[in-house]
Amino acid sequence: MNPNSRSGLPPGYSLHDGYVSVPDYLHLRSVSGLSSKTISQANAVSTGSWYGCYITYEEPGKESLPIGMGRIIGDGGWYFHIADMAVHPEHQRKGLGDVILKALLWKIHNESPEDGEPYITLFADEAGRKLYYKNGFVDSAPGQLGMAWRA
Ligand SMILES: CC(C)(COP(=O)(O)OP(=O)(O)OC[C@H]1O[C@@H](n2cnc3c(N)ncnc32)[C@H](O)[C@@H]1OP(=O)(O)O)[C@@H](O)C(=O)NCCC(=O)NCCS
Repeated sequence: MNPNSRSGLPPGYSLHDGYVSVPDYLHLRSVSGLSSKTISQANAVSTGSWYGCYITYEEPGKESLPIGMGRIIGDGGWYFHIADMAVHPEHQRKGLGDVILKALLWKIHNESPEDGEPYITLFADEAGRKLYYKNGFVDSAPGQLGMAWRA
């Protein structure tokens, strides 16, 4: 984890390496407006990802709850795809998405091979675009066009 990420967090919030539980994953996706997934799909998150991190919030006198997450699917060599960027609506616009994204990028830049450039991709929904531009992402079009298979 990037040690500097902790200093960017408002009081009550903590950044962790790893993945939220399956129920929390399903909940965070749906409450933040991302498409819903099944338990079997969510089970693969922790085993099939290269790295993930999440933020918990602890209200005084209450248990700490995961309220934001992000992860990287990749080979650890050069290909890294950022997925599941989500912050609970009650906690958005506090810089938490930025902390998560920076922690993911820090991990890639620090742990991918030094003798080549990592190729970092994502599909940007409207809500995330400004955040991604701010952190160095550019539109891949017109040179390349992102495509997704549809049945
Ligand atoms: C995208 C998301 C993760 C950003 O999390 P966040 O904690 O609110 O983001 P931050 O507070 O770090 O904001 C980062 C920047 O993005 C902008 N931003 C945040 N939410 C935004 C929104 N809904 N629409 C447009 N811009 C937004 C902020 O203005 C901020 O820029 P600025 O402070 O320099 O002006 C969050 O909005 C979210 O979970 N959205 C729903 C799920 C989603 O669409 N995920 C992205 C999939 S690609």
